Amino acid sequence: MSNNIDNLLHEERRFPPSAEFTAQAVGQASLYADSKKDRLGFWDKQAKELLHWHKPFTRVLDWSDAPVAKWFDDGELNVAYNCLDRHVLEGRGDRVAIYGEGEPGDQRVYTYSELTAEVKRVANVFLSLGVNAGDRIAIYMPMIPEAVITMLASARIGAVHTVVFGGFSADSLRSRIDDAEAKLVVTADGGWRKGKVFPLKPTVDAALEANGGGSSVTNVLVVKRGENEVAWTEGRDLWWDDAKAGVDAEHVAQGFPAEHPLFILYTSGTTGKPKGILHTTGGYLTQAAFTHKNIFDLHADSDVYWCTADVGWITGHSYVVYGPLANGATQVVYEGTPDAPHPGRWWEIIEKYKVSILYTAPTAIRSFMKLGREIPGKFDLSSIRVLGSVGEPINPEAWIWYHDIIGGGKAPIVDTWWQTETGGIMIAALPGVTTLKPGSAQVPIPGVVIDIVDEQGVPQDKNSGGLLVISEPWPAMLRGIWGDPVRFQETYWDKFGDKYFAGDGARYDRDGDIWLLGRVDDVMNVSGHRLSTAEIESALVGNNIVAEAAVVGAADETTGQAVVAFVILKKSHVDDQTPEEASALLRKHVSDQIGAIARPSKVYIVEELPKTRSGKIMRRLLQDVAEGREIGDTTTLTDTGVLSIISAQVH
Ligand code: PRX
Repeated sequence: MSNNIDNLLHEERRFPPSAEFTAQAVGQASLYADSKKDRLGFWDKQAKELLHWHKPFTRVLDWSDAPVAKWFDDGELNVAYNCLDRHVLEGRGDRVAIYGEGEPGDQRVYTYSELTAEVKRVANVFLSLGVNAGDRIAIYMPMIPEAVITMLASARIGAVHTVVFGGFSADSLRSRIDDAEAKLVVTADGGWRKGKVFPLKPTVDAALEANGGGSSVTNVLVVKRGENEVAWTEGRDLWWDDAKAGVDAEHVAQGFPAEHPLFILYTSGTTGKPKGILHTTGGYLTQAAFTHKNIFDLHADSDVYWCTADVGWITGHSYVVYGPLANGATQVVYEGTPDAPHPGRWWEIIEKYKVSILYTAPTAIRSFMKLGREIPGKFDLSSIRVLGSVGEPINPEAWIWYHDIIGGGKAPIVDTWWQTETGGIMIAALPGVTTLKPGSAQVPIPGVVIDIVDEQGVPQDKNSGGLLVISEPWPAMLRGIWGDPVRFQETYWDKFGDKYFAGDGARYDRDGDIWLLGRVDDVMNVSGHRLSTAEIESALVGNNIVAEAAVVGAADETTGQAVVAFVILKKSHVDDQTPEEASALLRKHVSDQIGAIARPSKVYIVEELPKTRSGKIMRRLLQDVAEGREIGDTTTLTDTGVLSIISAQVH
């Protein structure tokens, strides 16, 4: 990594904003000055200007119960009202909220009026099923408008949603349902992916049947989308359309306190068990709306925005649902994969809807680069005026390709650093202000205070690096880990006391711009998705043939990192299959246990693992092996010969 970053820091290309862009930009340089002068006053102003408050707040931040922040806590608001009703009441009801594009090419358009009407009905469905404020709703859906409607209907009644990405397994779904004690699951029969219907409802059934069947769930609400056959549990399962037909059309949104929970989203940590990251309403929505508007330069009456993330991830929460809809944006919601039915599908969508703001991940850009510029070249992408990137560092080569081929050589690229825990963007350029630097996320957004510190917590200066910390509480920060205050304290706060430890390494360049260097813990980043080495190791050792397993993230040209596993088989099972068969079987096993995103790209069957005298597996050395690098310091190993044997096996 360090060689890499030295090369990167020599990146000399600079892209200042054009005078035309700056002249029309939503976010002007004064935002920095205002936030520096009075940080809390700045957020106070944003919260009042961007949101409707059922009851105005008088307090901005209460940090007396640190590290659990309270923002705007004596105020009341309704998140769904902010995303829907007020746009209708203020005369924007006919504006398109969602262009829903199905993978097979079917289209469903919702104006703000129509979306509001849908959400009201679904809110009434939830209430009729006995789901009330504070109850949890698990959502396991394809990327169709109903997923957005479900999240907003949950918010509207003050329920707490937990969206589980549709690619996760029955086991993963079940553990999240159990941890959140969800009362209701909302799903679909199936959704479209890569030209086929992939079933979802059967996975929900399997999840609920596991562990002897008893669970916190009383109902399963099912959207008809895939038209695939599904099993039905009478009394528990309900079709979405039938349920909607049986309830009132009107629902009046009430205000909830600003610290009322909005959602729990599970993400990987350094241990095997995913963490339920808890977000609340007032501060979260303020930062989601502020960043969406200013970082993407949103002109809500003319832009067409498209964020390609799935609602199963935080990017889908903040920048498909809450930020854009709070700002009254018009956006595309696309169900499928980028290559179905043809590799130009995304560019076709941009041409069709005249998308002007595109927000996606470097891994997608790198896979398009591989396919060649001829594919986007067949489509009219001239509507594009702002590009965004998220999830992992964007290497300068991909940055330039994105800028030239997709952005027509003129659209600014905002590289946005943030996390499930931060709730909203934390580091990014302001496209009308910042001179862009390919590969660097650059500067904290206005109102956010970030430092890079050394191991002792001493802030670093230009030209030096260390660990990224967030030094002051921010509006969209997580309010805890669901049901686990101790883990919350230990994971983020024990290391530096009052500064939030993000888990990322970072460095300032000579101008003081920030370059992200990847995780410093046992969390991998595969295609912009967070995976835990421990979680995959525990899935592997859960298989009958495995004695021991070690997992590392190895550098990968397209996906950033790839999951590579080293496995020792149980003596009693070594001869049951060839190493190739064992490897294939274990890759599938991980996919079945956790989900396809966690499937190792390689599983090496080995005889030993490199261990220290205290028995700790040296993953760092395995990473060297997996990346074909010279092997680092091996002096603490019990047996240095182990590594040459493993290396010989791998290469
Ligand atoms: O390592 C950082 C990386 O993704 C991690 C957060 O992952 P997750 O919670 O899944 O959220 C991803 C989407 C917000 C971070 O700790 N990361 C995210 N964005 C960037 C990034 N690394 C470098 N540059 C980015 N722009």
